[in-house]
Amino acid sequence: MQTKYYKLDANKPDQVVLAEAAQLLQQGKLVAFPTETVYGLGANGLDAEAVAGIFRAKGRPSDNPLILHIDAADKLHQLAAVVPASAKALTERYWPGPLTVVVERQPQVPDIVTAGLNTVAVRLPSSLVARELIRLAGVPIAAPSANTSGRPSPTTAEDVLTDLDGKIAAIIDAGACRIGVESTVVDCTTPVPTLLRPGGITYEMLMEVLGEVEIDPALGGASVIPKSPGMKYTHYAPIAPMFLIEAEPQLAGELLRREITQALAGGKKVGAVVSSELIDSLPPQVIRTGYGSRTDAAEIAANLYTALRSFDNAEVDVIYAEGIREQGLGLAVMNRLRKAAGYRIIRN
Ligand code: TXA
Ligand code: MG
Repeated sequence: MQTKYYKLDANKPDQVVLAEAAQLLQQGKLVAFPTETVYGLGANGLDAEAVAGIFRAKGRPSDNPLILHIDAADKLHQLAAVVPASAKALTERYWPGPLTVVVERQPQVPDIVTAGLNTVAVRLPSSLVARELIRLAGVPIAAPSANTSGRPSPTTAEDVLTDLDGKIAAIIDAGACRIGVESTVVDCTTPVPTLLRPGGITYEMLMEVLGEVEIDPALGGASVIPKSPGMKYTHYAPIAPMFLIEAEPQLAGELLRREITQALAGGKKVGAVVSSELIDSLPPQVIRTGYGSRTDAAEIAANLYTALRSFDNAEVDVIYAEGIREQGLGLAVMNRLRKAAGYRIIRN
């Protein structure tokens, strides 16, 4: 199929164009659209047939549930059987924004959206284009990140087209996503709310509202079976195998140069994703991408997926990535880097 391309101003989107895209959604078609986190692949979230198309286009395993996106906070009550106090407090503070709450679902939510779970994930994005599109469609929009399953999430329309051109009805291009990593997913059905996926709303910000947050044990490593089904698959991965260096800055630099020197000596073509502080200290043969300053996790989050995708056409044999501190957005960055590396981690 021919994928229609719409270009919009993120701050002043053309309503006629949005209405046309919304109509495609109403017809059960797939439309990729920008949010403040990453581009989403949208379908009518109450239409099981339409949602099935998302799984086909992405090659997504059917046991991985989707987030329903709404355009106004009160619509949570149409999807949730119960809105726990924790969900109420979090959404009052952080919606619209990069926060997804998991709550008990209403019967009208199709099984295919929740992968058969009795809970549903709901998010109210802050992106104006996203909210207007959902409002005009008049239904909740199911939307995973608009990438082929397992690949880094798309933060530009170009990334989306690389993965999905010809497989979806349309794409709305409104420029690069501001945050660059996905929303924070919080399970509000547990006695103490559980962080299932770190994202745009930081752990510290959750604590400010809730006072107490459990961390899904699956976030700690590869061996545990995660509760958020999406967390168990290899994700965000560039094409070449990646190794993640986790150490304090000075040691990280030493480890990185040691590993790279060995790989080069073995005849390998080496790529590196590193901070601006380290980028000039690598051997000249290394194909390098800077993700920003190690002191600025927000900058790194915004550049992360583009950096991971930058090696797609470079045909490197191996990639080394520098880790950062797990503070603020650094927690989400490290979660994605560990998964992208398939938990191949070098600490000493
Ligand atoms: O920022 C975002 O959240 C983006 C944009 C497009 O909104 N969307 C996104 O969707 O990242 P996706 O499908 O790539 O990730 C959704 C995550 C998965 O890890 C999934 O397993 C989890 O949310 N999830 C969805 N429904 C769930 C549920 N009922 N219980 C637990 N986890 C759930
Ligand atoms: Mg995803």
